[in-house]
Amino acid sequence: MASFSSLVLPFTVIIASLVPSIAQLNPDYYNKLCPQALSTIRTTVEQAVARERRMGASLLRLHFHDCFVNGCDGSILLDDTPTFTGEKTAGPNNNSVRGFDVVDQIKAAVDKACNGFVVSCADILAVAARDSVVALGGKFYDVQVGRRDARTASRGAANNNIPAPTSDFNALLSNFQSHGLALKDLVVLSGGHTIGLARCTTFRSRIYNETATIDASFANSVRASCPQSSGDNNLSPLDASTTSFDTAYFGGLVRKRGLLHSDQQLYKGDGSEGDRYVEFYSGNEEAFWRDFGVSMIKMGSMGPLTGSNGEVRKDCRKIN
Ligand code: HEM
Ligand SMILES: *[C@@H]1O[C@H](CO)[C@@H](O)[C@H](O)[C@H]1NC(C)=O
Ligand SMILES: *[C@@H]1O[C@H](CO)[C@@H](O)[C@H](O)[C@H]1NC(C)=O
Repeated sequence: MASFSSLVLPFTVIIASLVPSIAQLNPDYYNKLCPQALSTIRTTVEQAVARERRMGASLLRLHFHDCFVNGCDGSILLDDTPTFTGEKTAGPNNNSVRGFDVVDQIKAAVDKACNGFVVSCADILAVAARDSVVALGGKFYDVQVGRRDARTASRGAANNNIPAPTSDFNALLSNFQSHGLALKDLVVLSGGHTIGLARCTTFRSRIYNETATIDASFANSVRASCPQSSGDNNLSPLDASTTSFDTAYFGGLVRKRGLLHSDQQLYKGDGSEGDRYVEFYSGNEEAFWRDFGVSMIKMGSMGPLTGSNGEVRKDCRKIN
């Protein structure tokens, strides 16, 4: 028996190590298929962010909203069809997610560079999110690629899976846990709010009604651009340095300056585990950058379509 298992084991190891490299995501997926793929995405993202800094935030958020709805499969990019209503008009997305034109520009550039339809829309979102973080001052991490694109989308699934800014801590945590993510991921990834803007309608009740958990002068200054009963679409920065991928978001939470109810839920000032993560990242930029990359890779590997599942879309807005 001993000699039998010592023969079988090496084969098992070889097969087990070959199959995942074909079927699963890895950073080198396009090295042979299209060596210019990732640099082409980066160049187009850099140009878009140079035109408008906020676009980096918008592209990061697109990847998050894609991944949380049946995995990172480019489903958020699909327009409605006669057979399904897509995710673009779901509550968390409608009049809110943006960057679709830039995704189209990236897709056109990458298809030209690769001489064909090689790079999936789901991978474009994952790589563009990383490149946006780097363009706004965060740190590089190796993106896993090799995703394929969904052939359907669901507005209902988007409504059910994307967390709401009115959520309390327990709801946020159980939402993230249902996606295979832990408390640390919740805190680190919420640090994505170190860039970008939010509409008045998403934080009005916090700035007028949560006086116990909000810094009074901060609330006053935000109220100036978010009236009690008008200006739903007026924008406010999610942190004090909205185009820099820094730790100001966490420092703001410690000083009760979280803009969204969901942000401030991560720091309550009661010494809970959330508090300790927030305090740690507020004073440790290197750790935030590093752990953000780790959690993004984890989020990015949720339920990918690989192998012969799904397709590589020709137009990110439509199935082939
Ligand atoms: C933890 C649960 C989360 C909630 C409840 C939440 C909620 C929101 C809301 C309400 C907005 C403003 C949308 C608008 O006004 O139209 C927003 C913006 C944003 N979110 Fe989140 N978010 C969460 C997690 C994340 C994560 C994990 C990321 C990325 C890793 C992220 C990245 C962003 C970015 C970058 C923006 C600004 C987008 C822009 O300026 O275009 N968020 N989020
Ligand atoms: C999306 O927003 C538009 C414009 O404000 C609105 O007319 C439409 O009813 C919204 N769609 C959904 C499904 O809420
Ligand atoms: C604040 O709370 C009061 C009482 O519950 C409510 O009537 C009011 O609409 C709330 N204001 C906002 C801006 O949410």
